Amino acid sequence: MLSELVCFEPTCRARFPIDEVIYNCPKCGALLEVELTGQLPADVKSLWRQRRTCNTPIDQSGVWRYRELLPFGGAENAVTLREGDTPLLDAPRAASYAGLDRIAFKHQGYNPTGSFKDNGMTCGATQAVRLGMRRVACVSTGNTSASMAAYAAAAGLEAIVLIPHGNISYGKLAQALEYGARTLQVEGANFDEILALVRLLAEKLGIYLLNSINPFRIEGQKTIVFEMLDQRDWNPPDWIVLPGGNLGNTSAFGKALRELLAHGLIPRLPRLAVIQAEGAAPFYEYSRGGPFRKVEHPETLATAIKIGDPVSYPKALSEIEATRGVVEKVSEREIADAKAIIGRAGIGCEPASAATLAGIKKLVASGAIRQDADMVAVLTGHVLKDPDYIYHYHTGQLTGPGNAKISAGFQNQPIVVPNDAEAIEKILGS
Ligand code: F0G
Repeated sequence: MLSELVCFEPTCRARFPIDEVIYNCPKCGALLEVELTGQLPADVKSLWRQRRTCNTPIDQSGVWRYRELLPFGGAENAVTLREGDTPLLDAPRAASYAGLDRIAFKHQGYNPTGSFKDNGMTCGATQAVRLGMRRVACVSTGNTSASMAAYAAAAGLEAIVLIPHGNISYGKLAQALEYGARTLQVEGANFDEILALVRLLAEKLGIYLLNSINPFRIEGQKTIVFEMLDQRDWNPPDWIVLPGGNLGNTSAFGKALRELLAHGLIPRLPRLAVIQAEGAAPFYEYSRGGPFRKVEHPETLATAIKIGDPVSYPKALSEIEATRGVVEKVSEREIADAKAIIGRAGIGCEPASAATLAGIKKLVASGAIRQDADMVAVLTGHVLKDPDYIYHYHTGQLTGPGNAKISAGFQNQPIVVPNDAEAIEKILGS
């Protein structure tokens, strides 16, 4: 399809060629989005379905399979690691924990680097190659950096990662190192402050920025919704629930749904529910009216969503309104227990992802979501992304912001035993 970059601000709507290296509107400074124009091929749903059985890397990719709704006019130069293709998993026990009849998790942790960022990064890295960029950079709470490092390595680009020192999980930091990124741990600064820094450096040094402010990342993340609907034979659920941090994913999901509806591929829009952690919930407050106020010192153990000044909030609010969505916030304890429940379903996820189930439980209890609703919650990251959190939870050592102890509702303490069959028999026999 033909594509252009368009200013997201309704009073501006300035248009720019797709190959300009810009992230904000040069006229008014607002966010940019890709606009696609043109017709889809007849019976595109069958085409997409057929591609699942093809062995070419671009058809195997759960992102590039949907290339008719991506801004590249094809899949030439696609930098792919076979991202997407993530399952929808039914979880009856998690459903009853939340007070629902049923729930399915779309688990983005099954991606090559273990998070939904890969859906976006395959497109971001491809655009970097198309533009002839040599270096790419991002600030990250961990997953973006892991993903960017991998895709940059696959594309032969140099990756520069900036992270808040001491504030991302080792699993994620380890990935950036292993994939060969130059990793700068910035002292005494949070995600929001480092984003300002990396934007300045990218501009000065001509480095391509791969945070979700980059509209090509958003385009790739749309395919999470395309694939989810394809897996459901294009029957929209009542609700799609996701955690909110910098709000790129919320923007991507809303855009995906609007495009599917506009092309007649779905009969109606599901509602979006975005869940934030209590200590980092500026979007929750904003969604209740009034001006946007950033949280100066965001705090949560779900470090992936420890963000106080999310860049994509204007887009995200517009998508919440378009889908008659809701925004909820949840406590550290609620996240921790929901995470353990997702684990006991044999599924598992990282803390930020579990905010979904915690939020759903709250929304069902308040009557905002019906018990018989058709629900899909998106688990954004793999259980092994943050093993320290898990160990601390199950051994009763989890402490939240301000050193507050978080008591675990579903603790599973490991037991130290002597190397002695009789002693072990006694424990297991009881
Ligand atoms: N879940 C996980 C596991 C994440 O890593 C992130 C964001 C989110 C949810 C929130 O998504 O920002 O689109 O609202 N992580 C970013 C990072 C910020 O740097 O990895 P969002």
